[in-house]
Amino acid sequence: MTQHLTVVDHPLVQHKLTLMRDKGTSTAGFRRLLREISQLLAYEVTRELPLTTQNIETPLQEMEAPVLAGKKLALISILRAGNGLLDGVLELIPSARVGFVGLYRDEETLEPVQYYFKVPESLEDRLVIAVDPMLATGNSSVAAIDLLKNAGATNIRFLCLLAAPEGVARMKEAHPDVPIVTAAVDKQLNEKGYIVPGLGDAGDRMFGTQ
Ligand code: URA
Repeated sequence: MTQHLTVVDHPLVQHKLTLMRDKGTSTAGFRRLLREISQLLAYEVTRELPLTTQNIETPLQEMEAPVLAGKKLALISILRAGNGLLDGVLELIPSARVGFVGLYRDEETLEPVQYYFKVPESLEDRLVIAVDPMLATGNSSVAAIDLLKNAGATNIRFLCLLAAPEGVARMKEAHPDVPIVTAAVDKQLNEKGYIVPGLGDAGDRMFGTQ
C-alpha cells in the first residue's frame, strides 16, 4: 500500500457505520454490524497482498492458479475493542496467525499503559495487520506499533473503523511507513479524548459495559 490513509467510502460501509454511530443501536446490533463492516474493511486492507501461483486441476484441466504468497499474515488485536474487528477479519482470513496487545488508556494522562503482549513468531516475515476500531489520540496505536516493531515486524498496516484527524497525524508522524485503512475520519477529539461525532466508547458498546 502506498497511500498513508485510505478511507473506505463504499456505500455498504458508510451505511453500516451510520447504524453503529446511532446511540439507539443495541449491543447485539452493534456487534453484528462491526463484524460485517470489518469484513468489508479487511477486503480493502488486503487488496494488494502479493500472489503467487499454484498448479491445480479443475474438473476440466490443469491450470496455474493464483494463491496468496508468503507466510500467513498476522492479525494483532489491540485489546479490548480490537477483538470486535478481529472476529470479522478472521472469518475472511481464517488461516491468519493472531496476536494480542493489551493497552489501557490512563484516563488522566490519556497515555497508554501495557498489560499484555503475545504475538506470533517470525513477525519479520509476515504482513502484520493491527486492528483497533478507534484511532483517537493515536497514543495507544503508536505504542502498539512500537511494540510490534520491537518484536520484529517490518510490514505493518493499521485497520480501524473510525479515526480522528489528531490520531491520523500522530500515526503519520510516528509511523509514516504504516498505512491506515478506516471507514471515516471524523471532525475532532473532545476534551476527554473521544472522537466527535464518533460512536462513543467502542468497547462499551460492543460488550455492553459502561
Ligand atoms: N475510544 C473509543 O472507544 N471511542 C472514542 O471515541 C475514542 C477512543
